[in-house]
Amino acid sequence: MGVANKMSIAYGALNCLLDQGAEVGFSYHPLAAKRAEKIQSESGSSFAIECDVEDPKNIERFFQQVEAQFGKIDFLVHSIAFANTEDINGNYYDVPKDGFLKAMNISCFSFTSAAKYASKIMNENGSMVTMSYYGAEKYIPNYNVMGVAKGALETSVRYLANDLGVEKSIKVNCISAGPIRTLAASAISDFKKLLDWHENNSPIRRNTTITEVGNNVVFLASDLSSGVTGQVIYVDSGYHTIGVKGKDSDSI
Ligand SMILES: NC(=O)c1ccc[n+]([C@@H]2O[C@H](COP(=O)([O-])OP(=O)(O)OC[C@H]3O[C@@H](n4cnc5c(N)ncnc54)[C@H](O)[C@@H]3O)[C@@H](O)[C@H]2O)c1
Repeated sequence: MGVANKMSIAYGALNCLLDQGAEVGFSYHPLAAKRAEKIQSESGSSFAIECDVEDPKNIERFFQQVEAQFGKIDFLVHSIAFANTEDINGNYYDVPKDGFLKAMNISCFSFTSAAKYASKIMNENGSMVTMSYYGAEKYIPNYNVMGVAKGALETSVRYLANDLGVEKSIKVNCISAGPIRTLAASAISDFKKLLDWHENNSPIRRNTTITEVGNNVVFLASDLSSGVTGQVIYVDSGYHTIGVKGKDSDSI
């Protein structure tokens, strides 16, 4: 869920899954319809279905459409987030209640809701994956309400892992990706600084790609990761392991 264009993390996941021979369909926001249709025909994915996750009824309908297409499914990848630009800049305490609830609804609750409906058509030992960022755990400038939503999303992963693990042995994990230039990221002020800082200070001194995230999605979606659930898997060039600026790294 969440292909907007060819820079999307969901697009990276889609291609890596297709490369490994998976049958995959995807959802897109109504505003991304044109690009999504093109991506579907070019990629050979099974379907592209519109779904605005702001209303849980649309999520329920989406999984009815998925069931009509596939019958049962083996995995779900959720790669969706949204906050009003004005609500992630400035001071966190200035976020209005409606902006707070909108960010939480689209970026966190939509995964809980999707997990509920997906689980009804998911085979035993299936897998669910969502996307987080380090701003869930640490202060990141200009991330604000999105950091709070990602914190709630990571906590949701642990609760869903238990619910669905007990019910159907379904794994639920999230990938904490390093910063990647995408449409969603373009809403974050000074994002270029964040990219440069990561590139200069992460242990492997480079930024994360959507293919690296996609390959880890394949691992988590497949039986190779059996026994791994409720986890935050970092695909961030190791950035979350460092304490201070590297001794040879440039000052930004
Ligand atoms: N780009 C990064 O640096 C980065 C890092 C870590 C995590 N993430 C996370 O990865 C996920 C994917 O983001 P991305 O960076 O690929 O950007 P993106 O803009 O390509 O993807 C975000 C997706 O969310 C969708 N979306 C927003 N509101 C929606 C709604 N109401 N209904 C349905 N879909 C909606 C957009 O249409 C888009 O497809 C997000 O959860 C994001 O927070 C991104």
